[in-house]
Order: sequence, then structure tokens, then C-alpha cells
Amino acid sequence: MANTRMDVRAIKEKIDIVAVISRYVSLVKSGSGYKGRCPFHKDDTPSFVVSPEKGLWHCFGCGEGGDVIGFLMKIENLSFIDAARQLAAEAGVAFRVREDGARERMREILADAASYFAANLRSPAGQRARQYLRNRGYDEGVWDRFGLGFALPGWENLKRELSKRYKVEELVELGLLVAGKEGIYDRFRDRTIFTIFDLSGRPIAFGGRAFAGEPKYLNSPKTPLFDKGRILYGLSWAREGLSEEKRAILVEGYTDVLTLHRAGLTNAVGSMGTSLTRGQAELLARFVEEVVIAYDRDAAGGAAALRGMRILGNSGLSVRVALFAEGDDPDSLVRRDGSEAIRAAVDAAVPFYRFYVESLNEKLDLTTVTGKERALVEAREFASGIQSLPLRQEFTRELADLLDLPVEGVSRELSRRRRPGREERPVAEGRKWEPEEDLLVLLLRGDIRWERVAGRVSPDHFSEENRPIAEGFAAGLEGSALIDGLDEESARRASFYALAPIEFSDVDRAVNDALARLVKLPAIERRLAEIDAEIGACEERGDLERWNELTREKIALLTEKLARRRGDGEEEA
Ligand code: CTP
Ligand code: MN
Repeated sequence: MANTRMDVRAIKEKIDIVAVISRYVSLVKSGSGYKGRCPFHKDDTPSFVVSPEKGLWHCFGCGEGGDVIGFLMKIENLSFIDAARQLAAEAGVAFRVREDGARERMREILADAASYFAANLRSPAGQRARQYLRNRGYDEGVWDRFGLGFALPGWENLKRELSKRYKVEELVELGLLVAGKEGIYDRFRDRTIFTIFDLSGRPIAFGGRAFAGEPKYLNSPKTPLFDKGRILYGLSWAREGLSEEKRAILVEGYTDVLTLHRAGLTNAVGSMGTSLTRGQAELLARFVEEVVIAYDRDAAGGAAALRGMRILGNSGLSVRVALFAEGDDPDSLVRRDGSEAIRAAVDAAVPFYRFYVESLNEKLDLTTVTGKERALVEAREFASGIQSLPLRQEFTRELADLLDLPVEGVSRELSRRRRPGREERPVAEGRKWEPEEDLLVLLLRGDIRWERVAGRVSPDHFSEENRPIAEGFAAGLEGSALIDGLDEESARRASFYALAPIEFSDVDRAVNDALARLVKLPAIERRLAEIDAEIGACEERGDLERWNELTREKIALLTEKLARRRGDGEEEA
């Protein structure tokens, strides 16, 4: 792997990203970088930028982005290995892929870990997890069939067991162990385990659910066998169902997949969270023609459905959206109302453009002129992401209907060029612009280094979607080494922050403001709760050194909390 990683770095150093992208996009110089029209969506702004200095590209219209290898993968629809190989040949450098034997061994290790977790679930220590699973309706048959297991509490259980047969470095590389400042310890502790399988049903990664507390789910990081953005949970069990029905039910969670399969809907697969990637969409497109998005009925699920629709639609799939009652997900629906309820919801799923139009209707008052105008502006953005002409037509008709305007007029409005506002802040993937966004922009541009903020924030202060980037910085990575270690989705976000057109008049001030707002009380409370739990564990295993460290951190946090309370009080008064 070290070789592959070094080769990738050499490729990126040698290859001129502007030259490669120019074969597909006509670029013009703009500031220190280049600009053009995005090849991945209908873009007339232009909103596609390339930075030769950073080796990154990003489209601020559709949100795609990454490095030069990622660009080639997307535009030519290649695997990582094929794209890297092609660029290596062009650059005249070596690209050594790890030979089959090594991958085979990695698979063996993962299979071994999966059996270990499965055995724990049946051991006396697995009592709580067994009870938990039974309460959720998963009995012993389900454990076997779907690869459920349990990671013991404590820091070195898997390490002790698997290091009898494998090197600790191998276990770290596969994400089973974490190499931290205090040593190397188990990634999954006191969690119910969901094994993630590849297409042919071999274990490649794990997701672990906490009984309580945050984060609720913890997944394997990106490894040579696993990239969350290129895998769908449950695909190996769904293959038959998918090819029979030519249709997939796309859900968010592990438990949604399990529950649907048990209810006989064997064409369910999971995106493992809300951010569906283009890689996942293309994977689905290999098996089906239609996708029914069955995401949680909550704000995040709704926004994700909108984003997912576009990605799926652009991969040539026809897309419908299933609607549930507020707060429901497929798992909760089936468990409350039975499998007929989910079948009915899937059958009643609406075409994606109708779902979008409905969401406009919920958000805006469309009986007023301003409401209609606002809807047209938003819809223009959305429509620009629909590549298929017939789909755009249907969308236009639906919208015209809702707004009670003539179709031709709406059509003209939708294809009008958007005049980009100068000082307009880019939208961060459906998120509000939070202080962490400012920090990430500054860090990824190289305006500040992690050391500058390390004393005040840890990756835990960052939202889930941005945490992998923060973890990279915290592990001492920067620049292209950091990007290389990220999964596809996080790399896309990183290119967004690195290239976002935002001016800070005073960097120092921006950093301090962001820090002050980021380290807010809820984050402190969360960390304190975590520390308390970890202190308990340290006491159990008599780890005095870590205990001291945690206690020091706890005192610092309590002091900060007091100070902040006072500060907050003054501000509010
Ligand atoms: N997820 C994740 N990390 C998190 C939260 C969620 O990877 N911290 C992914 C998991 O794959 C999870 C999915 O997103 O299954 C959906 O999240 P959520 O709706 O919060 O979980 P549920 O599957 O509904 O979980 P449960 O029913 O166990 O509460
Ligand atoms: Mn859910």
C-alpha cells in the first residue's frame, strides 16, 4: 500500500491537472486558477473551477469535485485503479497496485474479524447486545444471515485476539485498530456490529452501533478494501431481488435494509447515511432501471432525497420518492404497521420532480407573486441539474401547473442564464454555513495550519460530514496527502472548501470568531460525557496514564464552560 500511495502522489505531482481537464472542458484563466462550464451538469454560469496549485477541481453548481484522478474516474467512468494507471502511463511514472495475494490476505483478516465479532455476540459478554437485537426484532437467524456481531467493551480485545495471527500494522490499515497518540487500540468498542459485505458477499468493513451516546454509528474508515462512497450496504443480498424487479429501494440505514429484507423486500440497499455519491449511483445503475428513494422522513432525509434524485437521475435511472409520516423511517414503519405498509408506500412513491415541486409548495407561499418568483429562481438551479430532456419537460409541466403559469413561460424562465451575485456565498451541500465551514476553508487553503486550532478544537467539534477531513488534519496530514486519505464524498467536500470563493478581510479575526462559536456549550457537554465514559473504562482497566490525561482535559473543559456561561449571559443581557 505504501507503494501505491507513493505512486499516486508521484502521478499527481507529474500530471498537469489543467491539461487533463482541458481535454474535456474549455478553461479560461481566472485569478490563480481556471474556470469553465461543468461537464457533469448543464452549466451556463460557469461554475467549474480548477486550481493547479492545489491540484483540485470543484463545481459550485452541482457540487462535484476532487483531484485529477477523481476527475478522470467520473468523466470516463473508470475505476480508481484504471484512472490512476492511465495517468501514470501518461506521466511516465510507475503505478504499482498491490498484487492479488495481498488483497486476498486482507479479505481473510476481515473475515476473521467478522467471525470474532459474531462469536462475541454469543459469548456471556454479549448478553446486552443479544438483548438489544432481540428488542429490535432480530433473532439468532438474522445474526447469521446478515453478519451481526458485537465488539466487546475495553480497548484491546480485538487487538489481542487478531494480533496472534496478523501484524498490528495490517489491522490498522484495515481500520480495525486505531493508531492514536496513546497507542494502538480497538476502533470498535462496546458496539453492536453490522458487517458490510462486498458484491460477492465477503466482509470488507464494519459499522458499529452504540447502545447510547454519540456517535450513534461508527464505521470503518477508507481502506484498500472499502470506500463508503463506492459501496451499498446489502447489495450482495439484494442482487437477485434487484435483477428480478429491475428496481431498487434505497434506504439510509443498516437497520432499514435488514428490516426490509426480512419483510420480503429483497431489493433494498442502503446508502449508509444521507449523502449518496455518484459512485453509489453508478453501482446501482448496473443492476436496475429504477430507484425508489425511501429515506427518513425528517429534514435531513428530505434534503438528501433531493440531492440523491439528481445524482441518480444523471446516472440514467428513473427515480421516485416514497413518503412516510414525519419522523418515520422504513424500519420504524414496518415494525409498527407491518410489511404491507412499506409495500404500499413504495408503490405510492411519486416521481422525483413531483417530490421536488411538492417541497417547493411546502416551503413557499405559491399563491403570492413573490412566492412564485422565488420558486422559479430555486427551480432554475434544480432544473440545471437535470440532464435528460424529457425529464426536464415533465418537470417544467409539473411546475407550471403548480404555479398556475403557462408552460412556455416557465420553460423560458428555467433556461434563462443565472446571473451570479458577486458576494454570494456558496451553499455548503444543504448545510447552513457554520463556523466550522470558515475553519475548513482556512485550513484547506493553507491560510492556517491545524496547530493553530488544535488546542481549542478536536474533530469531535465538527459535524459528521466534515469530521473525516478534520480527522485528517488532526492526524498531521495536509494538502494532497490529506485528500488521498479521504473517501470520495469527503474529498468532494474538501475540494469545495479549498476552492470556495470567499474573502476573509482579516484571517486572524475569522479564526478567532469561528473558534469562539465552534467551541460552544453543546460540544463541551458532549465531550464531557464522552470523557466521563472513558474515565470509567480507564478505572476498570487501571490505565492511570490515560486517566490523568482525561481528568486534565475535563478540568479544562469545566473551566471553559464556566467562562463561556458568563460570556453568554453578558451577550444575551
Ligand atoms: N450513519 C453513520 N454514522 C452516524 C449516523 C448514521 O454512518 N453517526 C449511517 C448508518 O449507516 C446509519 C444510517 O446512516 O444506519 C442512518 O442513520 P440514522 O437514521 O441515524 O440511523 P438508523 O439506521 O435509523 O439507526 P437506528 O434505527 O439504529 O436508530
Ligand atoms: Mn433512520
